[in-house]
Amino acid sequence: MIESKGWNWKAVEGRDKGYWQTPSTESYYLLHRWKESGFNRFLDLGCGLGRHSVLFGLNGFEVFAFDINEDAVERTKEWAKSLGLSFDYRIGDMLSMPYEDESLDCILCMNVIAHSDTEGVRQAISELERVLKPGGECYLTFGSKSSRAFKQDWPMVDENTKLFMVEGPEYKVPHFYADRDLICKLFSGFEIVNVRHVEDYFERDKEIRSSFHYHVLVKKSEQ
Ligand SMILES: C[S@@+](CC[C@H](N)C(=O)[O-])C[C@H]1O[C@@H](n2cnc3c(N)ncnc32)[C@H](O)[C@@H]1O
Repeated sequence: MIESKGWNWKAVEGRDKGYWQTPSTESYYLLHRWKESGFNRFLDLGCGLGRHSVLFGLNGFEVFAFDINEDAVERTKEWAKSLGLSFDYRIGDMLSMPYEDESLDCILCMNVIAHSDTEGVRQAISELERVLKPGGECYLTFGSKSSRAFKQDWPMVDENTKLFMVEGPEYKVPHFYADRDLICKLFSGFEIVNVRHVEDYFERDKEIRSSFHYHVLVKKSEQ
């Protein structure tokens, strides 16, 4: 299994920083869904600058903010403190999480789990399953094999994984890319509530580009 490598958040500035401080579109749906389900203990797995920790904290959830990058956890803590919020903060690796078995209601893993190789992704999913309560839910995103990045001539780690070679916060961070069959296999132990293949457009170097991601919502069986 490849060694885990977090983001270098110091390399994120300007407009990109604003992006990572604004909650994703999907998080508002999840907030509503998970409140209606009576969920409370929320893990922001790979919290980054804390945009989802803060959103869920402001809406009454008990928040567990977790990232492999110390700077990310510190920045989440500072932001939460400035709003009078207090979370459980941990620095660690998704491959071995510091939470008790069946202790969390819901987990958001937005653009995180694919920062490993195939074996690492499998291990992280088994950790998610371990820490989720029966009936608990997890929302994850994965880069898609339809993405331009997967077609780049970058170093391959295994058949699904490449090292990301663009200078910036994720330079040389492993990226696992999925397709629909792979997603179904990876989550065969869960109930798959929903899988979407989403194309996002963005501007880079005065060009409109796009990337494809799988968005996956799964539920752990009630047993
Ligand atoms: C693309 S950022 C997403 C941040 C946040 N989820 C969001 O949507 O704003 C990926 C985050 O995952 C963290 N990360 C990468 N590998 C990790 C690992 N093995 N364990 C825990 N966190 C990890 C990175 O340090 C980074 O903060």
